[in-house]
Amino acid sequence: MASKAKPDLPSAAPVHGARHVAIIMDGNGRWAKKRFLPRLAGHRAGVEAVRRVARAARDLGLECLTLYAFSSENWKRPATEVADLMALLRHFIQSDLDEFHANGVRLRVIGNYRALDASLVDLIEGAMARTAGNSGPVIAIALNYGAQDELVRMAQTLARRVAAGEVTAEEIGIGDVDDALYTAGLPPLDLLIRTSGEQRLSNFMLWQAAYAELYFTDMLWPDFDARALEMALDAFRMRDRRFGGL
Ligand code: FPP
Repeated sequence: MASKAKPDLPSAAPVHGARHVAIIMDGNGRWAKKRFLPRLAGHRAGVEAVRRVARAARDLGLECLTLYAFSSENWKRPATEVADLMALLRHFIQSDLDEFHANGVRLRVIGNYRALDASLVDLIEGAMARTAGNSGPVIAIALNYGAQDELVRMAQTLARRVAAGEVTAEEIGIGDVDDALYTAGLPPLDLLIRTSGEQRLSNFMLWQAAYAELYFTDMLWPDFDARALEMALDAFRMRDRRFGGL
């Protein structure tokens, strides 16, 4: 984040009109391969892109930027790569938290992060608690996140509420589902970006993407920057969002 002190949020609504942007950050491995570098170099460059884009999101007046950092399926990768990714995440939180906090950012981690290494869980919970009272944008990092797992947990939560007599099955509405997801309290998702030319959602924010605009770019994640985010928001601004109406 920029170290210059700035107000937490712009006073006027930003011209692009988006509140919440989520990104499937894809292509780190291909970026490294093109340069005859190990995959870790691609992930490291991916962290630099995270820093650039987090700053840009704030400068562009977004209320929330959600980044898909590690999916519940990424455990299938070689153990060394999983360990590298966890080490990068740990280091990112340790090194960037002061700057996030100074800039009023609220850090949120979504996904089943409690299943991670206990010291990483402590670090995440400490970072979330430290920034929870800030009034600036939310940077949400999806970690050990899978949308199907999120929906199963939501069903279990609501089933427990019904069993406890808090609500009847018929009374359950969209708001109850929203509140039982990892993303509870975050603004509705406006724009979902995926880099690297793949055009699928890969178990990311399946419920939340119901009315999101989708934007696919061939750019590999480590090349993504403020200009690329602005281009995606320009494209978003041109979309005709009807939400099922006319
Ligand atoms: C996809 O590239 C990227 C990931 C699975 C991990 C994303 C992680 C980072 C950008 C770094 C850590 C994040 C934070 C928030 C500090 P890939 O490896 O699938 O690339 P490929 O498809 O080209 O092989």
